[in-house]
Amino acid sequence: MSERHTLEARDVRLGYGGRDIVSGLSLEVPQGAVTVVVGPNACGKSTLLRAMARLLAPSSGAVHLDGRSVAETPTKEVAAVLGILPQSPVAPEGITVSDLVGRGRYPHQGWFRRWTAEDDEAVAGALLATDVLELAARPVDELSGGQRQRVWIAMALAQGTDILLLDEPTTFLDVSHQLDVLDLLTDLNHADGTTIVMVLHDLNLACRYADHLVVMRDGRIVAEGKPSEVVTEELMSEVFGMRCSIVEDPASGTPMVVPIGRHHVRTEPPVPRN
Ligand SMILES: Nc1ncnc2c1ncn2[C@@H]1O[C@H](COP(=O)(O)OP(=O)(O)O)[C@@H](O)[C@H]1O
Ligand SMILES: [Mg+2]
Repeated sequence: MSERHTLEARDVRLGYGGRDIVSGLSLEVPQGAVTVVVGPNACGKSTLLRAMARLLAPSSGAVHLDGRSVAETPTKEVAAVLGILPQSPVAPEGITVSDLVGRGRYPHQGWFRRWTAEDDEAVAGALLATDVLELAARPVDELSGGQRQRVWIAMALAQGTDILLLDEPTTFLDVSHQLDVLDLLTDLNHADGTTIVMVLHDLNLACRYADHLVVMRDGRIVAEGKPSEVVTEELMSEVFGMRCSIVEDPASGTPMVVPIGRHHVRTEPPVPRN
């Protein structure tokens, strides 16, 4: 069990080239829990995650790791505690899978500490867990989108950090690999108490896997809490501008959002199918 760490955004203002995307946002990440961020395209989810990972400096406010502003914390110290998988990571040209995943171990190496058996073990474990062991010697450039995504997740896992931030980790994955990745992250959370913050597109998977759901719109958090307490037809309509029904997910009992378009409006109650 690794040491526990806390992460918090305090009244941050974030943007690009003088244009504000997020302003006055605060988020206290629940320690040892799975937090999922959802919201429409371009509402600022990735911007927030990048700021939390110290990849984007707030123009005001601050992100605090263990109560200390990350802007004032040395990169290496941040990297040893906080791992990130960005939305569109770019691999160095020609790098192999095992080398890329091995790069996740760099924050653990010091001036006197070189590559060790522990690093080997962390890399092998991550390759195995994400089902890419047989790709270890292949160049990352040659992989399919889904394979590449799993390799990036392996790199994030190999970091062995107490906090893991992942921006849409299930992109490019078919549905069974989506579940594999989310189950794997849940295992990690249960086994090591790893704090996980991820952006997910799929509202129903978000409701299933989140202990804490954060709903964003236009650079603001409009609701947060347990999915069963947060997700309502009114909120979904306000945030995503769509009509929907909320039913109970038959597998998990969590809220399931059923969107209603213009062509499929039911006038009679559904007939049970079993
Ligand atoms: N590097 C950048 N430079 C300028 N504008 C950006 C940059 N990255 C994102 N944006 C803008 O910031 C807004 C929020 O983007 P983003 O945080 O990526 O949204 P989300 O992840 O919720 O889809 C968008 O309008 C996007 O165009
Ligand atoms: Mg994004």
